[in-house]
Amino acid sequence: MFERRIDNNWNFKTANTKEFTHCYHTYPAMMIPQVARTLIEQFAPQGRFELLFDPYMGSGTSLVEASLKGVNSIGTDINPLARLISKAKVSHFNIDQIEKYLSEIQLLSFTYQPEKVINSDFSRVSNYSFWYSKEVLLKLSFLSQMIASFDIESQLFFKIALSEVVREVSFTRNSEFKRFKMSESQLEKFNPDVFGLFEGKAMRNLQGLKQYNAIKNGVSSQIFDFNTVNSIPIEILPPESVDMIVTSPPYGDSHTTVAYGQFSRWANEWFGLCDAKNLDNLLMGGKRQLVANFETKSIKNELQQIEIADTKRYAEVISFLNDYHNSIKNISPIIRKGGRICFVVGNRTVKGVQIPLDYFTAEMFEKYGFRHDITIVREIPNKRMPSKNSPSNISGQKAATMSNEYIVVMNKK
Ligand SMILES: C[S@@+](CC[C@H](N)C(=O)[O-])C[C@H]1O[C@@H](n2cnc3c(N)ncnc32)[C@H](O)[C@@H]1O
Repeated sequence: MFERRIDNNWNFKTANTKEFTHCYHTYPAMMIPQVARTLIEQFAPQGRFELLFDPYMGSGTSLVEASLKGVNSIGTDINPLARLISKAKVSHFNIDQIEKYLSEIQLLSFTYQPEKVINSDFSRVSNYSFWYSKEVLLKLSFLSQMIASFDIESQLFFKIALSEVVREVSFTRNSEFKRFKMSESQLEKFNPDVFGLFEGKAMRNLQGLKQYNAIKNGVSSQIFDFNTVNSIPIEILPPESVDMIVTSPPYGDSHTTVAYGQFSRWANEWFGLCDAKNLDNLLMGGKRQLVANFETKSIKNELQQIEIADTKRYAEVISFLNDYHNSIKNISPIIRKGGRICFVVGNRTVKGVQIPLDYFTAEMFEKYGFRHDITIVREIPNKRMPSKNSPSNISGQKAATMSNEYIVVMNKK
């Protein structure tokens, strides 16, 4: 089959995963920077290496690492928050300007009075009085108001800090990606320091920016919103234009695996970004499909077992795999001959049956002109991402089968 190699060098147990702009914003199922970095170092294709692509970019880990290595990159994600975070993380903001604005914020927050808030219309935030106190909403609005007075480029830096705060000061249980309201007893004790949190994040991010700006390679990092399940715009990525892919795709639909849409809805609604409510249905596997659009040997038995056990769960799995297959089919022609793809995948368990998505990934790429090189099995020591592994999306609950990540490395023939 497709050879797997367990390699403890890929654990990165003691690595600092928050270096550079990687500290900016949490995101579900983030790839750790050291994985992207080591893949670029060890598996860079021979010959031309000018463009790295990430088709499910998330918070842009691969793009930042490409930029640090002096490689141009293109990323796409249909989640607007993912694009906002990625854009900020690859930007070389002007540090003097950011520091000046930060002092302004500190001064103005100190003299804050609710009467100074210009916009107190929160209707864009669904059910806002259920999720926030009035006092918190006004303070968030005041921060937005200040940010809007900054120059356009610097606004993004502060928006990203605000984006994390918008979720953290809501009544949602922050340990979960899904939207669950806190218990009555938690609510009684909950009195978030909106300005303090915001300043803390902006200052932390400023340190990351300083590190990042110290390594300017003059490369371009472009961010898009196309959906590779449907097609890839030829004017952006013509055939054979990509030298390397470093990515971590979803491993199932967002309803039953990682709740990207629910996690992102706070910021997507606050900033009035599109598709906020509907996002989980638009992501891979979000539309129900009943019949497989692929033939597979590698996971045939698993799919049969799931179908026998539960036809509804089977349909969920197929809906995702169909989209994933279409995406691989569309991606394959844009990789140049001799180019490399590195897909970091998780093998979820449905109805007690583990689906080896690494085999499926390798099988589908093989069908579209790739040769399997190696699949590196990486142990996940990191408690930071339990929800990737937990079907319930509850922090701390970890399904045993998800304690490994599989890095599928293949070459275009
Ligand atoms: C595992 S996350 C990527 C995490 C990323 N590597 C990081 O470090 O933050 C998978 C991403 O795929 C995105 N996604 C899901 N369906 C997609 C699609 N059809 N096209 C593009 N992105 C999609 C989700 O929004 C999510 O951001």
